[in-house]
Order: sequence, then structure tokens, then C-alpha cells
Amino acid sequence: MRYFAQFRAGLAELVLDSLRRDLTKVTVVSSDDSSLLFDTGSSPSKVGQLGYLKNAFSVLGTVPRSSLQRAAEQFADQILSTAVLRGLGRMSAFRTMVSVDGKLVGLPRPVKDRFESAIARATGARVSPRGGGAEFWLIGRRDLKSMLLCQRLTAGVKAGAAGSLGADLATLLVKASAPRADDVFLDPFAGSGSIVRARIALPFARAIYSDLDVGEPNLQVPPEIRRDKRVKVLAEDALVLPSVPTGSVSSIVTDPPWGEYDELDTDFATFAERMLAGFDRVLDPRRGRVVLLLSRRAAAVTAGLWPGANLRLTRSHDLLVNGHPASAQIGGRPERAG
Ligand SMILES: C[S@@+](CC[C@H](N)C(=O)[O-])C[C@H]1O[C@@H](n2cnc3c(N)ncnc32)[C@H](O)[C@@H]1O
Repeated sequence: MRYFAQFRAGLAELVLDSLRRDLTKVTVVSSDDSSLLFDTGSSPSKVGQLGYLKNAFSVLGTVPRSSLQRAAEQFADQILSTAVLRGLGRMSAFRTMVSVDGKLVGLPRPVKDRFESAIARATGARVSPRGGGAEFWLIGRRDLKSMLLCQRLTAGVKAGAAGSLGADLATLLVKASAPRADDVFLDPFAGSGSIVRARIALPFARAIYSDLDVGEPNLQVPPEIRRDKRVKVLAEDALVLPSVPTGSVSSIVTDPPWGEYDELDTDFATFAERMLAGFDRVLDPRRGRVVLLLSRRAAAVTAGLWPGANLRLTRSHDLLVNGHPASAQIGGRPERAG
């Protein structure tokens, strides 16, 4: 079945990496910086549950690219004369939305009425402009030769707190670490906790949330992290982590300081070398995995440092974090990292 997904600009590589893990037989039909048209054998409900997509849709029909008005009229005809809306299950209400290159736009009233009355006739549902029922979207995209008639599957991702990673990116980083139910997880630069929250939303054994600023007024440990008895909260220097035993951690996913804005009292290369030496100590010598989010410039420095910490860097994805060029580096112990 064909699907269309929208995500935050700059996350395309990481999103595709996660889709390939989460869904079966993913084939990309077309993609750009913030959207993907793809086929998969997985069900709409499975695609709709992927929390890192801003919007996910099943594609019900296509018409050749033309004006919005013309496309809406063609879809109205298609809905009345073919089975495009059959088999969608029972629905009592719906609304329609029109999106062009990621922006919502309006249709002239008579065209919208015709489009909506075709859907109402085919589904037996009534129009509910405020939502609460099904959503049918007409989607146009600069890079697509067709316009799409879609049903929306997701409720959308929640934005993260100011200065924190969004929940979508945190989830993508966690997924890139190939999480396991028996993981002992560590984020040693946990900040507002977005990565730890994304990690504990999936099965895990134990987790460590550590940040030098724990206990300072500027850092509030999220209540769900404080409440969870399996999560240890520490205020330790990530370069030392004195209370984390050697070899006790199976997975680290973290967003360290990027060495910008005078964050560090040493040069970034020295900091990164000490950080990776600390990770080498606490990580399980056989199955330890690491995912690092860094600025593109910092990533160029750390790339050469993994082998010295007995780690292999297996994949690196370029992305944008709030418009800032960044990289996600993914790897682990050499025998695990393949
Ligand atoms: C880039 S931020 C992490 C942001 C986090 N991913 C979030 O979503 O909020 C880096 C964090 O590392 C912490 N930090 C900086 N140096 C540290 C060190 N040596 N040891 C532990 N934490 C440190 C800072 O307090 C800051 O919260």
C-alpha cells in the first residue's frame, strides 16, 4: 500500500532509516527534505502509530498535477465513479484539508462543496469542519507529478520544550540505536530529558539520566522520569560518570555540547576524546551501542575518534536541528556494529 509522510525539514535520512526498521518492505517512490511517498506491506494503523512523523497518510487516489480546483473536481468524479473510498471502515464524520508544499490552503467554496458532497455520498458520513472524525487531504507537492487524495492516519508529533530536541528527533535517535527490551540505557548529557523520555517509551530494563545541571534551577527533570523506579537520575560529569560501573551500559544515545557558544572549558577535540574514553569504560565490551547527535562541524572531529575508544562508527546521517546542520553518528562495539 502507498503512503505519504511529512516530517520536520532535514530529518529525511533518519526517518527513512527508522521506517526501514519499523515497517516491512519499504520502497521509496519519491522524497524531498520534509516528505516521503513510499510503499510498504505494513498496515495503515502501523504507519499511523509512528510517533516521529508529523503527519502520515494512506494514499487513496491520484490525478495528474494541475490547479487545485481542477484536481478537487477530478477527485470528486473519481470518488463517485470508482471504489477509491471503499473499504475504509465505518465513519460518521469527516473533514477535508488541502495542503500544497506543506502549507494548508483553501479551496473556492463551490469546489469544496462538490468535493465534500462526493465524499459524503461515498462514505455515508457527514461533514464536520471542526474535525473529530476522518480527515481527507488533497495534497500537492512541487516534486510530485501527481496530486494525491489521502486519508490522514496520525495525530501529529508534539513539539519539545524550548531548547530541547523535538520528540520526533529524540525518537528517531533512539530508534537508530536498535533498542532492546533488556537494555541498560544512558544519556549522560540528558538536559530536559527528551532522549530519555523517548527511550523509556519503549521496553527497557534500566536507564540512567545524567546531567551536570541536575539540581540547578534551569533544569527540571521531567516528572515521568523522576517517577519511574527503573530510571536513575544523576548529576555527574559525563566525562567521568563515577557511579556508573565499568561495562554496565548497553546503549548510549546522547546530544552532547557541540563546542559552540563557549560551552566548554577546553577545545572540542580534547572534550570529545575524553567523552568517548568515558563511554568506552561504561559500555558493555561486547554489545554496547552508541548514537551521537552533533553539529556537522563537531561530527567531523568525533568521526576519527571512535576507533580509539574501541568503537566502530557504522552510519552517519546528515540532518538539520532547528535549521542548524547536524549529524547523527551511529555505531558501537566492533562485533555489534555491523
Ligand atoms: C545539548 S544539551 C542536551 C540537550 C538535551 N538533549 C535536551 O533535549 O534537552 C547538553 C547538556 O549537557 C550538559 N552538560 C554539559 N557538559 C556536561 C558534562 N561535562 N557532564 C554532564 N553534562 C554536561 C548541559 O547541562 C546540557 O544540559
